[in-house]
Amino acid sequence: MGNEATWADSTNDEAVRVLTTDDGSKTLYLPGMDETYHSTHGAITESRHVYIRHGLDCWLRENPGAAEVRVFEMGLGTGTNALLAMDWSEETGCRVAFYSVEKFPLAKPVMQVYWGDTVYAERSEALHGADWEQWTEIPMANGVFRLFKHRSDIQSAEIPAAMDVVFWDAFGPKKQTGVWREALFRPIYDSLDARGLLVTYSSAGEVKRALKGVGFALEKLDGPPFKRHMLRARKG
Ligand SMILES: C[S@@+](CC[C@H](N)C(=O)[O-])C[C@H]1O[C@@H](n2cnc3c(N)ncnc32)[C@H](O)[C@@H]1O
Repeated sequence: MGNEATWADSTNDEAVRVLTTDDGSKTLYLPGMDETYHSTHGAITESRHVYIRHGLDCWLRENPGAAEVRVFEMGLGTGTNALLAMDWSEETGCRVAFYSVEKFPLAKPVMQVYWGDTVYAERSEALHGADWEQWTEIPMANGVFRLFKHRSDIQSAEIPAAMDVVFWDAFGPKKQTGVWREALFRPIYDSLDARGLLVTYSSAGEVKRALKGVGFALEKLDGPPFKRHMLRARKG
């Protein structure tokens, strides 16, 4: 996989740097890979735009009144998408079952610094403290958020059946080519519900080709700030 060794080496705590992005939210920078976890033009802004607005909001519009949405995420990382999905669940009343795959979990002290002075401090503790390989219920104002953290390389991960919304939040294809391949998208396509959708921030040519190659129909949507496009994929 492209650059994975460099990146794995740089996941020790000293090498990961916390940056503040343009909307005031944080992201992580991996010097060994020269890559950030989110857009430096606004980490939370990007996650909200790509995964919440064009993913969950879109799905709920098309499935009005649904009691639960089953989300699959490639790359738990800082937990930004999961924390925003908790907000979304409280706002909409739609329960979320969130299944996330992560090969290199971030150390808890790093996550305490990262989220410690934010409104997500408590929920982040619950999220990053939850056991791996089992469903955990995180209490919320109007119910629970169901979380399953699967510690695995995406290349050998167990993919649950009947997912509704896929968040494909890998490092960019130029930095980590191996995780944007048809071989990985095929089981995702097969597991996705007929009305399901996949969203990702990347609209790179190789990503489009790999998604189309397994049968996805693509929509090119406006991207978050300073990014022209993002992709939403549906079963063709
Ligand atoms: C762009 S970051 C996004 C993370 C997360 N969604 C967030 O908001 O912080 C990509 C994530 O994918 C994880 N990752 C990279 N390669 C992986 C692999 N082969 N299998 C599973 N996870 C991987 C990284 O550890 C990182 O957490």
